[in-house]
Amino acid sequence: MQISFVTGNLGKFAEAEKILKHFGVNIVHRNLSVDEIRSDSTEEVANASARFAHAKLEEPLFVEDSGLFIPSLNDFPGAYSAWVFRKLGNEGILKLAAGKEAEFRACIAYTDGNAAETFTGLVKGRISEEIRGTGGFGYDPIFIPENVPEVRHSGDKTFAEVPEMKGALSHRKRALEKFGKYIKK
Ligand code: IMP
Repeated sequence: MQISFVTGNLGKFAEAEKILKHFGVNIVHRNLSVDEIRSDSTEEVANASARFAHAKLEEPLFVEDSGLFIPSLNDFPGAYSAWVFRKLGNEGILKLAAGKEAEFRACIAYTDGNAAETFTGLVKGRISEEIRGTGGFGYDPIFIPENVPEVRHSGDKTFAEVPEMKGALSHRKRALEKFGKYIKK
């Protein structure tokens, strides 16, 4: 089974490709420029983007909208994470929220023109005190995931220091697993 993943982010694509392989799903990269709607809800953004992309490509596809949510900052940067990353970078987030609780959320929206479904995943953790690690992308160097006993280093290292943690417990992995199970059926 082959499905397109519409994204401009090759980091997201690489993670999704690995995880969906376990479900026997091969994905193809489509770098279509999608006009994202403005909304605080990653689900609304993902749904609108999937409809937009399907109108152009007319093939089974999914998009993913994700972000970093910091409760003590009223969930900032949330659905505006990509824009805030470009404007403030990891240094800016550290000034605002070093040591604070945070979570990553990912919402996948799939459509084949008839069915339209969304799948969400999240991982809780905290913002580190400094930028650490070179792996991953985006906010990975400042995000320390919650302690998960069976995953080595969770609870003290950032995602960028140990990118393999993302394959085990990331928001994307959790959303993709739900999606993979749905597609398999
Ligand atoms: P969008 O989903 O393309 O709107 O972008 C979400 C933004 O959130 C990305 O550009 C990253 O800055 C950030 N982000 C989403 N997922 C991750 C992740 O797994 N690691 C680090 N940053 C992420």
